[in-house]
Amino acid sequence: MIENHQDSSSKNGDNLSQENFVIEAKGLRKMYGPHLALDDVNLSIPSGAIGILGPNGAGKSTLFKCLLGLIGTTSGEGTVLGYDIKTEGEKIRSRIGYMPEYNALDSGLIAIDQVRYCGELLGMNSKVAAQRAHEVLEYVGLKEQRYRKIETFSTGMLQATKLACALIHDPDILICDEPTNGLDKRARKFMLKTLKRTVQQGNRTVLMSSHVMDDVQEVCDRIVLIHKGKIVVQRSIGELVNQVEREIEIMIWGGASKMEESLISKNLSVRRLGRIIRIKIEDEETIKKVLESAVESEVQIRQLKEYEPDLEDIFLLIMDKLGSEIKGSSELMTPDHKGGF
Ligand SMILES: Nc1ncnc2c1ncn2[C@@H]1O[C@H](COP(=O)(O)OP(=O)(O)O)[C@@H](O)[C@H]1O
Ligand SMILES: [Mg+2]
Repeated sequence: MIENHQDSSSKNGDNLSQENFVIEAKGLRKMYGPHLALDDVNLSIPSGAIGILGPNGAGKSTLFKCLLGLIGTTSGEGTVLGYDIKTEGEKIRSRIGYMPEYNALDSGLIAIDQVRYCGELLGMNSKVAAQRAHEVLEYVGLKEQRYRKIETFSTGMLQATKLACALIHDPDILICDEPTNGLDKRARKFMLKTLKRTVQQGNRTVLMSSHVMDDVQEVCDRIVLIHKGKIVVQRSIGELVNQVEREIEIMIWGGASKMEESLISKNLSVRRLGRIIRIKIEDEETIKKVLESAVESEVQIRQLKEYEPDLEDIFLLIMDKLGSEIKGSSELMTPDHKGGF
Protein backbone atom coordinates (compact mmCIF):
# COMPACT_ATOMS: atom_id res chain seq x y z
CA MET A 1 0.00 0.00 0.00
CA ILE A 2 1.73 3.18 1.17
CA GLU A 3 5.17 1.87 2.04
CA ASN A 4 7.26 3.83 4.45
CA HIS A 5 9.73 6.07 2.71
CA GLN A 6 12.78 5.61 4.92
CA ASP A 7 14.68 8.33 3.18
CA SER A 8 12.36 10.30 1.01
CA SER A 9 15.07 12.86 0.27
CA SER A 10 17.09 10.29 -1.68
CA LYS A 11 14.54 10.41 -4.48
CA ASN A 12 14.45 14.18 -4.58
CA GLY A 13 15.57 16.37 -7.46
CA ASP A 14 19.26 17.18 -7.67
CA ASN A 15 18.75 20.86 -7.13
CA LEU A 16 16.96 20.78 -3.75
CA SER A 17 17.83 23.79 -1.63
CA GLN A 18 20.20 23.41 1.26
CA GLU A 19 17.50 23.78 3.87
CA ASN A 20 15.62 20.87 2.34
CA PHE A 21 12.38 22.70 1.95
CA VAL A 22 10.18 20.61 -0.29
CA ILE A 23 8.31 23.66 -1.56
CA GLU A 24 9.62 27.19 -1.95
CA ALA A 25 8.09 30.27 -3.49
CA LYS A 26 9.34 33.82 -3.83
CA GLY A 27 7.18 36.79 -4.71
CA LEU A 28 4.60 34.63 -6.39
CA ARG A 29 1.70 36.54 -7.96
CA LYS A 30 -1.24 35.29 -9.92
CA MET A 31 -3.73 37.49 -11.71
CA TYR A 32 -6.93 36.23 -13.30
CA GLY A 33 -7.46 39.10 -15.72
CA PRO A 34 -7.57 42.17 -13.50
CA HIS A 35 -8.19 40.08 -10.35
CA LEU A 36 -5.20 39.55 -8.08
CA ALA A 37 -5.62 36.03 -6.63
CA LEU A 38 -2.12 35.54 -5.17
CA ASP A 39 -0.15 38.52 -3.94
CA ASP A 40 3.57 38.32 -3.24
CA VAL A 41 3.50 34.80 -1.81
CA ASN A 42 6.69 33.70 -0.10
CA LEU A 43 6.75 30.13 1.14
CA SER A 44 9.30 27.75 2.64
CA ILE A 45 7.65 24.44 3.38
CA PRO A 46 9.56 21.58 4.99
CA SER A 47 8.37 17.98 4.80
CA GLY A 48 5.54 16.90 7.09
CA ALA A 49 1.86 17.70 7.33
CA ILE A 50 0.94 21.24 6.35
CA GLY A 51 -2.49 22.79 6.56
CA ILE A 52 -3.35 25.59 4.16
CA LEU A 53 -6.07 27.53 5.93
CA GLY A 54 -8.24 30.31 4.59
CA PRO A 55 -11.81 31.17 3.67
CA ASN A 56 -13.31 30.50 0.27
CA GLY A 57 -11.75 32.79 -2.27
CA ALA A 58 -8.51 33.23 -0.27
CA GLY A 59 -6.39 31.66 -3.01
CA LYS A 60 -5.76 28.13 -1.72
CA SER A 61 -6.73 26.29 -4.90
CA THR A 62 -4.89 28.82 -7.04
CA LEU A 63 -1.74 28.31 -4.96
CA PHE A 64 -1.95 24.53 -5.45
CA LYS A 65 -2.48 24.86 -9.20
CA CYS A 66 0.52 27.21 -9.47
CA LEU A 67 2.72 24.85 -7.45
CA LEU A 68 1.69 21.94 -9.66
CA GLY A 69 2.50 23.93 -12.77
CA LEU A 70 -1.10 23.51 -13.95
CA ILE A 71 -1.59 27.24 -14.39
CA GLY A 72 1.00 29.88 -15.17
CA THR A 73 2.01 32.46 -12.60
CA THR A 74 1.98 36.16 -13.39
CA SER A 75 5.32 36.81 -11.71
CA GLY A 76 7.62 35.42 -9.05
CA GLU A 77 9.22 32.02 -8.82
CA GLY A 78 8.83 28.71 -7.10
CA THR A 79 10.23 25.22 -6.80
CA VAL A 80 8.68 21.94 -5.71
CA LEU A 81 11.15 19.17 -4.80
CA GLY A 82 13.73 21.36 -6.46
CA TYR A 83 11.85 21.55 -9.79
CA ASP A 84 10.85 24.87 -11.31
CA ILE A 85 7.08 25.38 -11.27
CA LYS A 86 7.23 27.38 -14.52
CA THR A 87 9.16 24.93 -16.65
CA GLU A 88 9.09 21.55 -14.93
CA GLY A 89 5.39 21.04 -14.21
CA GLU A 90 5.37 17.58 -15.68
CA LYS A 91 8.23 16.40 -13.46
CA ILE A 92 6.50 17.95 -10.46
CA ARG A 93 3.23 16.21 -11.25
CA SER A 94 4.99 12.87 -11.59
CA ARG A 95 6.12 13.20 -7.97
CA ILE A 96 3.02 14.78 -6.51
CA GLY A 97 -0.39 13.32 -5.94
CA TYR A 98 -3.09 15.94 -6.45
CA MET A 99 -6.59 15.56 -5.12
CA PRO A 100 -8.52 18.42 -6.73
CA GLU A 101 -11.34 20.25 -5.03
CA TYR A 102 -14.00 19.43 -7.59
CA ASN A 103 -15.13 16.11 -8.93
CA ALA A 104 -12.68 15.03 -11.56
CA LEU A 105 -13.99 11.49 -11.94
CA ASP A 106 -15.76 9.76 -14.81
CA SER A 107 -19.08 8.65 -13.36
CA GLY A 108 -19.55 5.90 -15.96
CA LEU A 109 -16.41 4.01 -14.90
CA ILE A 110 -16.06 1.46 -12.14
CA ALA A 111 -13.69 2.64 -9.40
CA ILE A 112 -10.87 0.24 -10.19
CA ASP A 113 -10.80 1.30 -13.86
CA GLN A 114 -10.90 4.98 -12.95
CA VAL A 115 -7.93 4.68 -10.61
CA ARG A 116 -5.95 2.49 -13.02
CA TYR A 117 -6.69 5.00 -15.80
CA CYS A 118 -5.29 7.84 -13.65
CA GLY A 119 -2.10 5.83 -13.26
CA GLU A 120 -1.85 5.22 -17.00
CA LEU A 121 -2.30 8.94 -17.65
CA LEU A 122 0.70 9.52 -15.40
CA GLY A 123 2.72 7.17 -17.57
CA MET A 124 2.46 3.98 -15.53
CA ASN A 125 2.46 0.67 -17.34
CA SER A 126 -1.08 -0.71 -17.33
CA LYS A 127 -0.25 -3.92 -15.47
CA VAL A 128 1.50 -2.04 -12.67
CA ALA A 129 -1.27 0.56 -12.61
CA ALA A 130 -3.92 -2.17 -12.29
CA GLN A 131 -2.12 -3.79 -9.37
CA ARG A 132 -1.57 -0.44 -7.64
CA ALA A 133 -5.22 0.47 -8.18
CA HIS A 134 -6.28 -2.51 -6.04
CA GLU A 135 -3.82 -1.53 -3.32
CA VAL A 136 -4.71 2.14 -3.13
CA LEU A 137 -8.46 1.51 -3.22
CA GLU A 138 -8.04 -0.78 -0.26
CA TYR A 139 -5.91 1.88 1.47
CA VAL A 140 -8.65 4.48 1.13
CA GLY A 141 -11.30 2.07 2.40
CA LEU A 142 -12.95 1.15 -0.90
CA LYS A 143 -11.90 -2.49 -1.24
CA GLU A 144 -15.47 -3.75 -1.28
CA GLN A 145 -16.71 -1.06 -3.64
CA ARG A 146 -13.93 -1.17 -6.21
CA TYR A 147 -16.07 -2.83 -8.91
CA ARG A 148 -18.95 -0.42 -8.45
CA LYS A 149 -19.71 2.38 -10.88
CA ILE A 150 -18.65 5.79 -9.63
CA GLU A 151 -22.13 7.19 -10.35
CA THR A 152 -23.45 5.12 -7.41
CA PHE A 153 -20.93 6.61 -4.96
CA SER A 154 -21.63 8.86 -1.97
CA THR A 155 -19.61 12.06 -1.53
CA GLY A 156 -17.35 10.26 0.96
CA MET A 157 -16.68 7.48 -1.56
CA LEU A 158 -16.03 10.02 -4.33
CA GLN A 159 -13.48 11.84 -2.15
CA ALA A 160 -11.84 8.51 -1.29
CA THR A 161 -11.66 7.60 -5.00
CA LYS A 162 -10.04 10.97 -5.74
CA LEU A 163 -7.52 10.24 -2.98
CA ALA A 164 -6.81 6.79 -4.48
CA CYS A 165 -6.18 8.46 -7.87
CA ALA A 166 -3.79 10.89 -6.21
CA LEU A 167 -1.85 8.04 -4.57
CA ILE A 168 -1.66 5.67 -7.56
CA HIS A 169 1.91 6.56 -8.53
CA ASP A 170 3.22 6.52 -4.96
CA PRO A 171 3.97 10.26 -4.83
CA ASP A 172 6.39 11.94 -2.41
CA ILE A 173 3.99 14.79 -1.77
CA LEU A 174 0.23 14.64 -1.58
CA ILE A 175 -1.74 17.82 -2.21
CA CYS A 176 -5.37 17.62 -1.14
CA ASP A 177 -7.70 20.48 -1.90
CA GLU A 178 -10.50 20.57 0.69
CA PRO A 179 -10.44 16.78 1.23
CA THR A 180 -13.19 16.85 3.85
CA ASN A 181 -15.61 19.07 1.95
CA GLY A 182 -19.16 17.74 2.03
CA LEU A 183 -18.29 14.69 4.12
CA ASP A 184 -20.43 13.38 6.97
CA LYS A 185 -18.84 12.80 10.36
CA ARG A 186 -17.75 9.23 9.72
CA ALA A 187 -16.33 9.83 6.25
CA ARG A 188 -14.53 12.93 7.51
CA LYS A 189 -12.95 11.01 10.35
CA PHE A 190 -11.79 8.28 8.00
CA MET A 191 -10.37 10.77 5.49
CA LEU A 192 -8.41 12.60 8.20
CA LYS A 193 -7.16 9.29 9.63
CA THR A 194 -5.98 8.17 6.19
CA LEU A 195 -4.14 11.45 5.59
CA LYS A 196 -2.53 11.23 9.02
CA ARG A 197 -1.44 7.67 8.31
CA THR A 198 0.07 8.75 4.99
CA VAL A 199 2.22 11.27 6.83
CA GLN A 200 3.09 9.28 9.92
CA GLN A 201 3.48 5.74 8.60
CA GLY A 202 4.15 6.47 4.95
CA ASN A 203 6.52 9.33 5.78
CA ARG A 204 5.07 11.48 3.00
CA THR A 205 4.51 15.22 2.92
CA VAL A 206 0.86 16.16 2.86
CA LEU A 207 -0.50 19.60 2.08
CA MET A 208 -4.19 19.89 2.77
CA SER A 209 -6.33 22.95 2.35
CA SER A 210 -9.35 23.63 4.46
CA HIS A 211 -11.56 26.38 5.75
CA VAL A 212 -12.14 24.30 8.89
CA MET A 213 -9.59 24.70 11.68
CA ASP A 214 -10.42 21.41 13.36
CA ASP A 215 -9.53 19.34 10.31
CA VAL A 216 -6.15 20.96 10.03
CA GLN A 217 -5.45 20.63 13.71
CA GLU A 218 -6.18 16.92 13.54
CA VAL A 219 -3.66 16.14 10.81
CA CYS A 220 -1.10 18.90 10.51
CA ASP A 221 1.94 20.08 12.41
CA ARG A 222 2.32 23.33 10.49
CA ILE A 223 -0.10 25.87 9.13
CA VAL A 224 -0.03 28.39 6.35
CA LEU A 225 -2.77 30.95 6.75
CA ILE A 226 -3.84 32.68 3.58
CA HIS A 227 -6.15 35.65 3.36
CA LYS A 228 -7.07 37.60 0.22
CA GLY A 229 -4.17 36.05 -1.67
CA LYS A 230 -1.57 36.92 0.97
CA ILE A 231 0.20 34.56 3.34
CA VAL A 232 -0.42 35.92 6.82
CA VAL A 233 1.20 33.16 8.84
CA GLN A 234 3.39 30.13 8.20
CA ARG A 235 4.52 28.37 11.34
CA SER A 236 4.44 25.13 13.23
CA ILE A 237 1.38 24.73 15.40
CA GLY A 238 3.68 23.98 18.35
CA GLU A 239 5.41 27.34 18.02
CA LEU A 240 2.11 29.11 17.71
CA VAL A 241 0.71 27.39 20.80
CA ASN A 242 3.73 28.56 22.77
CA GLN A 243 2.94 32.14 21.88
CA VAL A 244 -0.48 31.94 23.40
CA GLU A 245 -0.63 33.12 26.98
CA ARG A 246 -1.30 30.35 29.46
CA GLU A 247 -4.60 30.33 31.30
CA ILE A 248 -6.21 28.49 34.16
CA GLU A 249 -9.69 27.27 33.45
CA ILE A 250 -12.13 26.81 36.30
CA MET A 251 -15.67 25.54 36.32
CA ILE A 252 -17.67 26.97 39.17
CA TRP A 253 -20.94 26.41 40.92
CA GLY A 254 -22.96 29.46 41.92
CA GLY A 255 -22.12 33.21 41.91
CA ALA A 256 -20.14 33.39 38.67
CA SER A 257 -20.57 37.17 38.39
CA LYS A 258 -19.40 37.69 41.95
CA MET A 259 -16.41 35.47 41.33
CA GLU A 260 -15.60 37.38 38.16
CA GLU A 261 -15.72 40.70 40.00
CA SER A 262 -13.50 39.37 42.75
CA LEU A 263 -10.91 38.09 40.26
CA ILE A 264 -10.90 41.42 38.44
CA SER A 265 -10.45 43.26 41.73
CA LYS A 266 -7.23 41.25 42.17
CA ASN A 267 -6.02 42.62 38.82
CA LEU A 268 -6.39 39.29 37.03
CA SER A 269 -7.32 39.03 33.34
CA VAL A 270 -10.54 37.11 33.11
CA ARG A 271 -12.57 35.57 30.29
CA ARG A 272 -15.95 34.23 31.33
CA LEU A 273 -18.05 31.74 29.38
CA GLY A 274 -21.04 31.08 31.66
CA ARG A 275 -19.92 28.79 34.46
CA ILE A 276 -16.46 28.51 32.98
CA ILE A 277 -13.91 31.20 33.75
CA ARG A 278 -10.44 31.43 32.24
CA ILE A 279 -7.79 33.41 34.07
CA LYS A 280 -4.45 34.44 32.57
CA ILE A 281 -1.53 32.98 34.51
CA GLU A 282 0.56 35.99 35.59
CA ASP A 283 2.84 34.30 38.09
CA GLU A 284 2.86 31.62 40.78
CA GLU A 285 0.46 33.72 42.84
CA THR A 286 -2.35 33.39 40.29
CA ILE A 287 -3.75 30.08 41.55
CA LYS A 288 -3.64 31.35 45.12
CA LYS A 289 -5.59 34.44 44.13
CA VAL A 290 -8.17 32.32 42.31
CA LEU A 291 -8.71 30.16 45.39
CA GLU A 292 -9.02 33.28 47.58
CA SER A 293 -11.59 34.73 45.20
CA ALA A 294 -13.62 31.53 45.41
CA VAL A 295 -13.68 31.76 49.21
CA GLU A 296 -14.54 35.47 49.17
CA SER A 297 -17.38 35.04 46.69
CA GLU A 298 -18.58 31.79 48.28
CA VAL A 299 -18.45 29.72 45.12
CA GLN A 300 -17.43 26.13 44.70
CA ILE A 301 -14.72 25.34 42.18
CA ARG A 302 -15.80 22.15 40.44
CA GLN A 303 -12.78 21.81 38.20
CA LEU A 304 -9.46 23.61 37.85
CA LYS A 305 -7.00 22.95 35.04
CA GLU A 306 -4.60 24.65 32.73
CA TYR A 307 -6.44 25.55 29.55
CA GLU A 308 -5.01 24.02 26.37
CA PRO A 309 -5.23 26.59 23.58
CA ASP A 310 -6.60 25.35 20.27
CA LEU A 311 -6.11 26.69 16.78
CA GLU A 312 -9.05 29.01 17.23
CA ASP A 313 -7.33 30.78 20.15
CA ILE A 314 -4.10 30.84 18.22
CA PHE A 315 -5.84 32.38 15.28
CA LEU A 316 -7.35 35.14 17.40
CA LEU A 317 -3.96 35.88 18.88
CA ILE A 318 -2.32 36.06 15.46
CA MET A 319 -4.95 38.42 14.17
CA ASP A 320 -4.64 40.52 17.29
CA LYS A 321 -0.89 40.78 16.81
CA LEU A 322 -1.25 41.59 13.14
CA GLY A 323 -3.81 44.25 13.97
CA SER A 324 -5.81 42.84 11.11
CA GLU A 325 -9.15 44.16 10.03
CA ILE A 326 -10.57 40.68 10.62
CA LYS A 327 -12.47 40.57 13.85
CA GLY A 328 -12.92 36.88 14.45
CA SER A 329 -12.07 33.50 13.09
CA SER A 330 -15.63 32.95 11.93
CA GLU A 331 -15.14 35.80 9.51
CA LEU A 332 -12.06 34.14 8.16
CA MET A 333 -13.11 30.55 8.32
CA THR A 334 -16.80 30.43 7.52
CA PRO A 335 -17.35 29.67 3.86
CA ASP A 336 -18.06 32.89 2.05
CA HIS A 337 -19.96 31.91 -1.06
CA LYS A 338 -19.54 35.35 -2.55
CA GLY A 339 -15.87 34.55 -2.96
CA GLY A 340 -16.41 31.27 -4.78
CA PHE A 341 -16.97 30.80 -8.43
N1 LIG B 1 -10.25 30.60 -13.25
C1 LIG B 1 -10.52 31.72 -12.58
N2 LIG B 1 -10.86 32.86 -13.21
C2 LIG B 1 -11.10 34.00 -12.54
N3 LIG B 1 -11.03 34.14 -11.20
C3 LIG B 1 -10.70 33.03 -10.50
C4 LIG B 1 -10.43 31.77 -11.14
N4 LIG B 1 -10.13 30.87 -10.18
C5 LIG B 1 -10.20 31.53 -9.01
N5 LIG B 1 -10.55 32.82 -9.19
C6 LIG B 1 -10.69 33.85 -8.14
O1 LIG B 1 -9.46 33.91 -7.44
C7 LIG B 1 -9.66 33.99 -6.04
C8 LIG B 1 -9.03 32.81 -5.36
O2 LIG B 1 -9.75 31.64 -5.68
P1 LIG B 1 -9.37 30.21 -5.17
O3 LIG B 1 -7.92 29.98 -5.39
O4 LIG B 1 -10.31 29.24 -5.78
O5 LIG B 1 -9.64 30.35 -3.60
P2 LIG B 1 -9.90 29.22 -2.49
O6 LIG B 1 -9.45 27.91 -3.06
O7 LIG B 1 -9.13 29.67 -1.30
O8 LIG B 1 -11.36 29.22 -2.24
C9 LIG B 1 -11.16 34.09 -5.85
O9 LIG B 1 -11.52 35.44 -5.74
C10 LIG B 1 -11.72 33.46 -7.10
O10 LIG B 1 -13.01 33.98 -7.40
MG1 LIG C 1 -10.49 26.23 -3.29
